[in-house]
Parts: sequence; structure tokens; C-alpha cells
Amino acid sequence: MGVRGNMLLVLLILQGILAVRNLFQNPGLESTNGWTCLDCSGSLSSDKRSGSHSYHVTGRNHDFSGASQEVQVSGGHYYYFKVWVKIDNTANGKWYHDVQGQIDILHNNGQHEYQQVGETNYVFPGRWYLVGGDHYVAGNIKSIRFYVQIPEAGVNYHIDDAQMDEVAYLSNFANEANQRIDNLRKANLAISLSGSASPSGLQVEIQQTKSEFGWGSAVDANMIVDGNKKAYQNFFYDIFEWAVLENAMKWPAIEGSKGNYNYDTPLRAVNSMESKGIIMRGHNIFWGGDFVPNWQKSMSGSQLRPELEKHIKGMVGHFKGKFRHWDVNNENLHLHFYEDKLRDQYITQWMFRETKKLDPSATCYLNDYNIIANSGSTMAYVDQAYWFKASGVPLGGMGIQSHFGAYVDVSSVKRRLDEIAAVGLPVWITELDISEPDETKKAKKYEDLMRLYFSHPAVKGVMFWGFWDGRHWRPQAALANGNNVTPNAAGRKVQELLKRTWRTNETHNIGHGQTVHIRAFKGSYKLLVRHNGHVIHTQNFSLGGHGNNLKINLSGSGSNPHVDHVLIG
Ligand code: XIL
Repeated sequence: MGVRGNMLLVLLILQGILAVRNLFQNPGLESTNGWTCLDCSGSLSSDKRSGSHSYHVTGRNHDFSGASQEVQVSGGHYYYFKVWVKIDNTANGKWYHDVQGQIDILHNNGQHEYQQVGETNYVFPGRWYLVGGDHYVAGNIKSIRFYVQIPEAGVNYHIDDAQMDEVAYLSNFANEANQRIDNLRKANLAISLSGSASPSGLQVEIQQTKSEFGWGSAVDANMIVDGNKKAYQNFFYDIFEWAVLENAMKWPAIEGSKGNYNYDTPLRAVNSMESKGIIMRGHNIFWGGDFVPNWQKSMSGSQLRPELEKHIKGMVGHFKGKFRHWDVNNENLHLHFYEDKLRDQYITQWMFRETKKLDPSATCYLNDYNIIANSGSTMAYVDQAYWFKASGVPLGGMGIQSHFGAYVDVSSVKRRLDEIAAVGLPVWITELDISEPDETKKAKKYEDLMRLYFSHPAVKGVMFWGFWDGRHWRPQAALANGNNVTPNAAGRKVQELLKRTWRTNETHNIGHGQTVHIRAFKGSYKLLVRHNGHVIHTQNFSLGGHGNNLKINLSGSGSNPHVDHVLIG
């Protein structure tokens, strides 16, 4: 490595160190230094997550009573806060608790502003859970006090291994992301020709037919097969290679009344898209909260249990082999209908095991919200994934919904994504939409988020949650409008990125015995060799991580230019 290389290495190491600089004093909680129990008693405990001690909080009289640390920082930045928490007991009538990372921002004028940075809302006694999130703290402040809150008084807890740092502001976001895209999403392709009867007038063209990175959208199961909805279908097939049915596979759609099934609607759509080479995600087998079928709401746990088994068998059975991914229990971080009904905190883990058993070729995904559009559940999601992994659950990937309002800040979104990536599982952005009424601003915001996702090593694909305002749960997020499904500025930007910017379609003159070098996007390709404008040879090839070195011998049968003129040209 040269001097420049060494300098670069030093810079990278420095960057790494700066990124993890901990602003908390005594973050390992090996003593009580720096930590205060507000409206509670705090003491050192030997029950630790790491090191030798943790900080034990008892005597909590209010929701806010808890372990806290005040940090002197200047505002004008995003800060990230994380801490591990273990609760000792539950309050009356509860069997799990919501643990919240809170901050009290003390402004220069003496006023306090209280904000929640994140919550982990399915916390049982006896296990360490990650709690935290980020917040943008405006200027003009004196200090920030971080504390751990539980709505119910009387719940005692421990904290250990705390972390507070400043979220890096990405002043050069697009350039850095483009550099990562070049490294991650492209590979070297070499093409050389031999055996040609005509050494001059040769050209090679490569046409990318598929992208290795997944780009897709939610579709309406009826519209995607309706003969009167050609404009809708054309918009979809023109730019997307992956699909998910928006609603037709949800349990209330499959079994609206008990025992009456509608698998036909989704199957028709799935078979039609499959025949056109579209790859699909299955969404979803279970979805708690209000999204369960009405007939389940009054059932007891023991009545429900056999229904769950039957449903997994029915779903996986009908669609076996058709889905690359299954969203097993949608939004399970937030919704605990089945857990509560069956009083079984492991029921989602059971759902994952059953699904994987019945369809081993599908990858089982968690799919949740408030993960990167805000940090409300980022750390809870990381925690859940670690828990599933440690329990041997066949969790294959993390689905991140990505429903944005008009506010999009790539610096904090990247940081949240980095936190998720630390788990080490493949990440899919499963439901991207940005509800922004101004179409020019919307175009820029989609572009920024797409660039961020495409440039992140953990992210393997992005699904839009619909594209047409005539069929969109948040019409202001649409990429196309009106009866003709006309692309708006955002739609045109998405088309440009997916069809041109992040795709390789090139033609090169090539001499006999020469090699053409192309740095091309990973994926599947069709290659054509022309002689004086006439196609004399075609073949398919794929370009993956290791690149490809195509040596094309034109002397073989069917590749004689003069013969092929007649056959193909
Ligand atoms: C939404 C659909 O888009 C709506 O048409 C429907 O009325 C409700 O569900 N998170 C999910 C999706 O996982 O299934 C939801 O889809 C949007 C939020």
C-alpha cells in the first residue's frame, strides 16, 4: 500500500473512531459515576450485561422515574442514544412493559422540552433488551438529560452499556453514495472476440435484462390482470422486477368469514406475474391488531390456536415455491394480538418455524414500521432480530417498511439503517412511499432515498408500496396519476434511475482479437454481436460479484457472419 493508501486507511480508522465516540460518562456502568436516579433509588448491581456491574433502579413512583445522565452538548445536531435494559418485575395486570428512551432538553431560556427517542414495547422480566433511538436537537440548548422511562410506576429495572453519539451529517451524500454504488452494485466485464471471418465492422452490444438488486412494487391483485387496466400494468412491467400483492393475501381477504376461502384472486395475479418473470414476496401470513379477521376477535386462545396451524398450512400450501420471501407476522413489533390471545410470547417464533418447515425455499422476514422513517422502533427491531437469531428461529431477513411523510433526512436514515445492518441479516425495504404533495420535491426525495438504499451494503432490494394515485393508500406518494397512469416528476425520476442510471446497456466497436472492458451493473444480460449492423451471434450471461470474462468464439456453428445475415439479420 502506498503513502496515499496508508493515509486513506488512517482517515478511515479515524472516521470509525469518531463515529462511535461515546458522549456518556461511564457508559459501561461499572460505577454509579455520572448517573443519577431521578425520583428513584439507583445502586450498583452485579447483575450485568457486560463487565462486572449494571445500574439498578428501584423505588419508582412515576412513569419518568428512572436512571438518567445529563450531557453538555451544543445543539444543531442529531444524537443517537442506546442502552440495554432488563426489568425485574411487572406491574399489576401487565405481563410485559413498554420501555422508553426519553430525553429532557434544557433550553438556554430555562425551558424543558421532553422527547421520546425510541421505545421497546414488548419487554418481559429477566432478559436484556436494547432501548433507544435518535433525535434532532435544535441549537440554543444548555444540555440534554437522557433517561429510561416505563409508563407504570413500581417496575424496577437495570441498565448497562449505554451509548450516546452524534449522528454524522452527510454533507457529501450523493457523491459518497455513488462511489459505494460503483463498488457494490457493479462488476468488471471483459468481452473478447475470436474466430471471426471478418476482422472489421464488428460490434458488441450488452442489454441488461435483470438487475441483481431487487426493485419492485406492491400491486393490486385485480388490476394487475384486468384487461381494462393496461396502463397500470405497463407502468409496472416497464420498471419493476419484483412484486407483492398489496391486500389480497391478508387473512381477512383469504378467509373473510370462517371457512370461506378466496385463494383464487391472489393466485390468478401471482401466476400471471410469475409467467412474466416477476419475482414475488408473500405478504402476509399473519397481521395482528385490528387487521385480524373479524371472526377471530371474540375467539379464545384455545379456539384460535388450531386456526393458526390451519392457516399456515393453507397459505404456504397454496403458494408453495412461488414466493422468495414470506412476511410471516406483519408488524409484530407493534401488534401482539396472537401473543396476547394465546398468552404466548413465543408464538411468532413458532410461526416462523412452521412456515420455514413447510416452504424451506422461502426466506422468512420480519416486516415493520418506525424503523427508518423515524427511530421510534429501530432499536426494538434490532433487539427482536438478535433475540430470534439467538433462539435459532429461521429468520432470514429484516423487512423495513419505509413510509415517509414529507420530511426526509438521509443522514439520520442512513444511521438507522447502519444500526439495523449491524444484526448481519439481509435487509429489504418492503414498503417505500413518500407522501409529498409537491411533485418536484417528491422526485428529489425518492431519488435520495433510492440512492441511499441502493448504496447500502445490507440492502438487497426495495419495494414501492404502490405507484398509481388511482390505487394508492397514500395518493400523494404516487409516481403516476390519472386514467392514463401518467408519470409525474417523481415517476419520471424513478424510471430514469431504474431504466438508465442504474442499468447497463452499451454498444462498443470491437476488433477481432480485442477485448472490451465495461464496468457494468450486476444482473442478467443479453449479448449481441453485430457485423456491419447485422446480428451474427447472441447469448445470455450473468454478471455477479466476481465479474465475468466472456471469450466469444465466432467460428462455431451459426456464428458465421455471412450465414447469420440471412438467418437473423
Ligand atoms: C395497507 C394497504 O395499502 C391498504 O390498502 C389497506 O387498506 C391497509 O393496508 N403496512 C403494511 C401494509 O404492512 O400491509 C399496509 O397496507 C400498509 C402498512
